[in-house]
Amino acid sequence: WRLLLLAAGAWLLLWPPLASAAVHRSDFPASFLFGTATSSYQIEGAYLEGNKSLSNWDVFTHLPGRIKDGGTGDVADDHYHRFEDDVELMDSLGTNAYRFSISWARILPKGRFGKVNPAGIAFYNDIIDSLLLKGIQPFVTLTHYDIPQELEDRYGAWLDAEVQKDFGHFADVCFAAFGDRVKHWVTFNEPNVAVRKGYMLGTYPPERCSPPFGSCAAGDSDSEPYAATHNVVLAHATAVEIYKRKYQSKQKGSIGIVMYAAWYEPLTDTPVDRLAAERALAFDVPWFLDPIIYGDYPPEMRQLLGSRLPTFSPEERRKLGYKLDFIGINHYTTLYAKDCMFSSGCPPGQETTYALAAAIGERNGVPIGPPTAMPTFYVVPDGIEKTVTYIMKRYNNLPMFITENGYAQGGDGYTHVDDWLDDQGRIQYLDGYLTKLAKVTRDGADVRGYFAWSLIDNFEWLYGYTLRFGLHYVDYRTQERKPKSSALWYKDFLQNLHEAQ
Ligand code: NOJ
Repeated sequence: WRLLLLAAGAWLLLWPPLASAAVHRSDFPASFLFGTATSSYQIEGAYLEGNKSLSNWDVFTHLPGRIKDGGTGDVADDHYHRFEDDVELMDSLGTNAYRFSISWARILPKGRFGKVNPAGIAFYNDIIDSLLLKGIQPFVTLTHYDIPQELEDRYGAWLDAEVQKDFGHFADVCFAAFGDRVKHWVTFNEPNVAVRKGYMLGTYPPERCSPPFGSCAAGDSDSEPYAATHNVVLAHATAVEIYKRKYQSKQKGSIGIVMYAAWYEPLTDTPVDRLAAERALAFDVPWFLDPIIYGDYPPEMRQLLGSRLPTFSPEERRKLGYKLDFIGINHYTTLYAKDCMFSSGCPPGQETTYALAAAIGERNGVPIGPPTAMPTFYVVPDGIEKTVTYIMKRYNNLPMFITENGYAQGGDGYTHVDDWLDDQGRIQYLDGYLTKLAKVTRDGADVRGYFAWSLIDNFEWLYGYTLRFGLHYVDYRTQERKPKSSALWYKDFLQNLHEAQ
């Protein structure tokens, strides 16, 4: 047995050392959900299959010059035909939850003006069933930017109160079809981004612009973003009312909304920049969450905008009373906020919202944190702790989930597949952000789960396929998936295999 021991010793010496990490699975409660996230338009492809109608993003990406590499979601990751393989990837990571979205145009190709599409229902049933077979909980977003183009063409979608009825109907169909197995529902993904880019900057569909943003023409309306937000907030309330009255007691699930939540630090330590940072924050997430949770738009916004902000009728307030069960936080980055209320104007294109604050990535030529391939995303792990603390304080520690967090690769220097696979930058990013998330959770924030964006490389909106966020690499010629180093890191993290640092 001495020989045996010797052999074992030699073997141990040869064994590759386990990666060290600052954070461990055991730093989080045992009940914590750990998963990955995706969205329908970004991964499914099959844009004309299964009786699906065209979505607003199908139409938009086919217009010339809109997407950096001319990419579209026509094929994307072909997840429509490969979801079983993708569920295998989740299983091999050891995740216990998966966040994905439903393509509204697959379920109701003509909105509430047509019938429910059985092929659409069957597709999501199959995904949900294969997840549950592996013990992976589905965490389902009803709308992740893509909506049936029909709604845009008929009545201008988010600009018309009609959309509240359409969204309510869609949500009802989904709760009825999938709610026996789906216990976490999200009404909207990042409506603050959809409104900002779709109705202020005009860079996302439906390409509506409002001065003083982006390159809008004078005379473009500056009330559309408020009108769109009003309808989103009320569409959310409509869906939550339906869930709470018809389904929740039987299905025993919960329903929330997901917001894009960047952190803002004052550019300089002056009162005006400190106020600018507060405004940049209040005009973003609370623009949607204050009405949903407290029944009206943020006082900070009312103060500055007065009657330009719509008001809620008594009936609308009654509906808002259904609120939500949890807040989903998509957090990636921290930026500096610079005042442009008391100081000179905001540099064009850098206005956050109507907050009269500019969002800036660097100070005196020094970036706020290591840059990533996404121009506005920097690595600032403290930001997740500050964001969670802000939301926890403003909303009395309602249950929270980190519904997205991730790192973009891209640009020059990626010539060989190994360059993508060896993603040390992403590992450091995940380790740093998860460390701060564990800390704030230990300190009392009611955070209940974390989803890495993304399971696989996918269609990154205006950047097409030039940026990659996946834990798995996708070869778009063959649709082969390969785990990157970060996938192995996440897997080891979930099994508590990393050594302490
Ligand atoms: C947030 C969006 O929800 C998602 O669709 C996008 O791909 C990531 N951010 C990365 O930009």
